[in-house]
Amino acid sequence: MELLKGDIIQGVVSDYASGGEGIIKTGNFPIFVPFAALGDELRVRLSFVKKDCAFGEIVEIVSPSQSRVKPRCPYFGKCGGCDLQHLDISSQLEIKRKSVKSALRRICGRDIDVPLPLRLNDFEYRNKLALPFGFNKKSGRISLGFYEKKSHKVVPLKFCPLHGEWAAKLIECVSAWANEFSLSVYDEETGQGLLRHVVARMLDTLSLTIVINGKALPYLDELALKLKVYFNDFALFVSVNRKNTNVIFGDDVKLVYGVEKPQNLGAFKAVVSPKSFLQVNSKVRDALYDDVAAALNDFDGNIVELFSGIGLLTAQLALRLPSAKITAVEIEPSASMDASKLAKNLGIESRVNCVCDDAVHYIENAQENFGKNPPNMLECEDKHLTLSPEKCGKNDKNCEKHCIKRTLILDPPRKGCDAKILEAAIGSFERIVYISCNPQTLARDLKILFESYELCDIKTYEMFPETSGIETLVVLKSKK
Ligand SMILES: C[S@@+](CC[C@H](N)C(=O)[O-])C[C@H]1O[C@@H](n2cnc3c(N)ncnc32)[C@H](O)[C@@H]1O
Repeated sequence: MELLKGDIIQGVVSDYASGGEGIIKTGNFPIFVPFAALGDELRVRLSFVKKDCAFGEIVEIVSPSQSRVKPRCPYFGKCGGCDLQHLDISSQLEIKRKSVKSALRRICGRDIDVPLPLRLNDFEYRNKLALPFGFNKKSGRISLGFYEKKSHKVVPLKFCPLHGEWAAKLIECVSAWANEFSLSVYDEETGQGLLRHVVARMLDTLSLTIVINGKALPYLDELALKLKVYFNDFALFVSVNRKNTNVIFGDDVKLVYGVEKPQNLGAFKAVVSPKSFLQVNSKVRDALYDDVAAALNDFDGNIVELFSGIGLLTAQLALRLPSAKITAVEIEPSASMDASKLAKNLGIESRVNCVCDDAVHYIENAQENFGKNPPNMLECEDKHLTLSPEKCGKNDKNCEKHCIKRTLILDPPRKGCDAKILEAAIGSFERIVYISCNPQTLARDLKILFESYELCDIKTYEMFPETSGIETLVVLKSKK
C-alpha cells in the first residue's frame, strides 16, 4: 500500500531511532514518530513520506507505553529544547546507549559493548542559556524563548526546567525591560530591529550577554537595575552582530556593567569569557574529566590536546601528571586566553602551552610547531628522530623504552574531526583520547582510527538529560 503525506496510520512503536524518535513499521517500512515511547499504540498523521521511510506526528495515544512519564515542562513538545521528557530514565539511558552502539556498528562495522551513560542529575543541570528575542505582532509584546524544532519561530518561555530558578528570573527581568522601553526585535527577513539574543551562563555569579543588531544597547542602567533585584553579582556584556547568520555572537563582546570574576569550576577557579565553550553540565563534566585523567594515569609523555576550550581538562591533566607537557590548541581567542590565564594562575605555564589556532592548521604545520620533533616522528632521549621506535636510526634495542611517547586528546564540536587531523595522528601518537557529543561523527572518525589503533575503553555520559544528546569518551592505543 502506498503511503502519502496526510495519511493516518495506526501501529505499535517497536523500536527507537538514534534521535530518540519511536519507530512504527508497516511491513518493512519505518515511520519515525517524535515523542513516542516503545510499546505505545498510536494513531499517527504522516507529515513527510520518502522512498524508504516516513515521518509522522502523534494524533492519538490509543494505548500508552509503560515507559511514559508526565513531562515536567508545559512547553515540552512545542519548544525545540528537549525530546525525551516523556520517557522514564531507564528508557532515556537505553536510547542513548543504543545510539552510540548502532552508530559504531553501522559506520565502523564493529559490535562494541557500550555501557549505559553515567547519569548524575535529571533537571536544572544546564549552566548556559541562549535565547532569541521574539515579537508577537498581534499583542505587541516582546518575549524570550526557544525556537520551535526545525524552525525559527520563537516559542515564548517563562522558565525552563533544564535550568535552575535563575533562568526564570533572567527571562522575567530582560523581557520586562525590553517591553518597558519598547525596544525593537531583530527580524531575520528584513534585517531590521535591535534585540537578537540573550546568552547567559550561571556559575557562582551570572554572566549575561545581549546580542544586538545596532551600535549600542540603550537603557543599560535600567536593565542593570532590574537584574539587581534578583542577582547580587553579575557581569553584563554586549555583542554587536549585524550579519544575517545563525551564529549568535558578533566578533566582539564588550563588558558594559559589573566585573568578570573567576568561577568555581570543580578543581579550581577560572574566568569563563562569554564566547568560550564550557560543558553545560558541570557535575558530569567533572566526572568525564576524572575519567580522562584516570585513563592517562600511567602516561608520562607529552600531550597534544586539540579543541581544548578554556583549558580546564588541560589544567587537571597537568596537575595530575607532573611530568607531562601539554600543548592545548583552541580556535576561539577568548577561550585560549582564558586557558593561558588559568595555567599561569596554577603555576603550570612552563608545562602547558596554550596555542590559539585552527586544529587542522596546527597539525598541518606541526613540523614547525613541534620544532625538531614533528608529530609523525618519535623523539628519543638522545634526540634521534624516528618514525617508530623500531626504525630508530641508532638501532638500539631498548629504544622503545626511551622514546618520548605522545597522547592526542580530541574534543571536537558536533561535526567531528577533519580527516587531516586523523591522518596526522596515525603513527604519531601512542594513545588517542576522543571525547565526542555526536555518535555519528565519532563513528566516522573511529572508522579511520581503528585501522591503526585498538579500543581500550569506551564510556558514555548523560551530559544532556531529557534530550537525545549523549557524550562519549573513547580511549585508543596504537596497535604498533
Ligand atoms: C566540544 S568543545 C570542547 C572544549 C573543551 N575540551 C572542554 O571540555 O570544555 C570544542 C572546542 O573546540 C573549539 N574549536 C572548534 N573548531 C575548532 C578548530 N577548527 N580548531 C580548534 N578549536 C576549535 C571550540 O571553540 C570549542 O572550544
